[in-house]
Amino acid sequence: MTETPRTVAVVLAGGIGVRVGLGIPKQLIKIAGKAIVEHTLEALEASPLIDEIIVMMNKSSISELEPLLGSERFPKLTRILPGGATRNDTTQLAIDVLEGDDTKVLFHDAVRPFIDDRIIGDCVDALDHYDAVDTAISSADTIIRVDDGGHIADIPDRSYLRRGQTPQAFRLATIRRAYEIAKTDPGFKATDDCGVVFTYLPDTPIFVVNGTAENMKVTEPIDVHIADKIFQLQSASLSLETIDGPMDLNGKAIVIFGGSYGIGASIVEQATAAGAAVREFSRSTTGTDVTSPKQVRKALAEAAAELGRIDAVIITAGVLRIAPLVETKKRDLKKTIQTNLTAPAVVCREAYRYLAKTSGQVILFTSSSYTRGRANYSTYSATKAGVVNLTQALSEEWAEAGVRINCINPQRTATPMRTAAFGDEPPQTLLDPSDVARVTLSVVNSDLTGQVVTVEVAAMAAAHRRANEQ
Ligand code: CTP
Repeated sequence: MTETPRTVAVVLAGGIGVRVGLGIPKQLIKIAGKAIVEHTLEALEASPLIDEIIVMMNKSSISELEPLLGSERFPKLTRILPGGATRNDTTQLAIDVLEGDDTKVLFHDAVRPFIDDRIIGDCVDALDHYDAVDTAISSADTIIRVDDGGHIADIPDRSYLRRGQTPQAFRLATIRRAYEIAKTDPGFKATDDCGVVFTYLPDTPIFVVNGTAENMKVTEPIDVHIADKIFQLQSASLSLETIDGPMDLNGKAIVIFGGSYGIGASIVEQATAAGAAVREFSRSTTGTDVTSPKQVRKALAEAAAELGRIDAVIITAGVLRIAPLVETKKRDLKKTIQTNLTAPAVVCREAYRYLAKTSGQVILFTSSSYTRGRANYSTYSATKAGVVNLTQALSEEWAEAGVRINCINPQRTATPMRTAAFGDEPPQTLLDPSDVARVTLSVVNSDLTGQVVTVEVAAMAAAHRRANEQ
């Protein structure tokens, strides 16, 4: 009986990322609270098709990743080794430490964190029929070839052109042989690994599997923003997937500040129904002032004593007063800032020590006005922008301790706070608070951090339509 060959993923992280120009190797840039290479590792670790992961890391930054070795998060990660001077040198160094001619090996750029299970599966499967596999997508842009003088030399037929991505996957003997021959060529030049097989083993067919637009390589400064946005979109769609079907929060202890009405009340109700142990604090029910560190501390201590642990702390308390700034009363100004921004900061400070014990998370609430200040509620918009920055900053400060923080960004929601501010509005233009609560609790159940999860009226209506059709 022949043994099933092992599948090893080699994460190429030997570069510096000069083009991004942030002064640290780009694979260490944080997106959503984690280094880009960590996201890549998470995707590979989660794939049942990968047996082992090796990281080839930029020599001067190896120490940054060493804590990941032997950690519970990455049991498949066996080695973090120094990369080489060029990407091909890095691949060669990886080949040198790998064993078994039949081994399936996937070389993947550390800076493509959006690799998904479908791509991994297609590459691994294709290696049952081919010795070399590339991942590529078609090109929306026309590709031109230029000459040394900067003039067009050729315009190849776009339907045959693809943009190469990674993984590039091989049977180990094939890629090893290609590099052996390449070594004897003084004019050797390549930017990827399939190119080495293509040039030096021309009889070996290289199968191409479809990549995705999301499987982009973080290369230029703008890519960091695009990558950030892709994370946000993926987390939003993740929360929509949970719109139907039962939710399981058994064993979770959840504390909610501002749970007496609106979204907060709906969270209390749904969390309890899903099996969570819930404690609710608010000005009207428990007389808790969320802007007072002392009262917040007391509330959390009480909840922790009663529930035995705290897995999530959710703050829905907020105030919205409509008035031009010059007409806003001093008292109202202070109240808006204290309730909407000081309180989340106070709760985060006090909740941290409980959440560090459970790898728990905080969930805050922002508003779509965070991206652009709105006339007549300037201070509200400003505090909501502050909540987003608080979320992003704390996701980084807390990443190492495994404590997470996210914020929910519901579009217009039919809550008493909104009706008081804006009067009656057509119901189909508003979100149901119970939908926002549902998304919030799906975030409690996720491992997201540093995310703004937007809940949109249109997307929610479409999700309901789909659920009804099934
Ligand atoms: N890479 C590597 N070893 C090198 C150079 C690059 O393992 N000596 C890796 C990078 O870390 C990256 C991938 O190959 O994950 C893709 O390379 P590229 O985007 O060109 O990365 P950098 O060389 O880091 O970027 P730049 O060219 O902007 O410096």
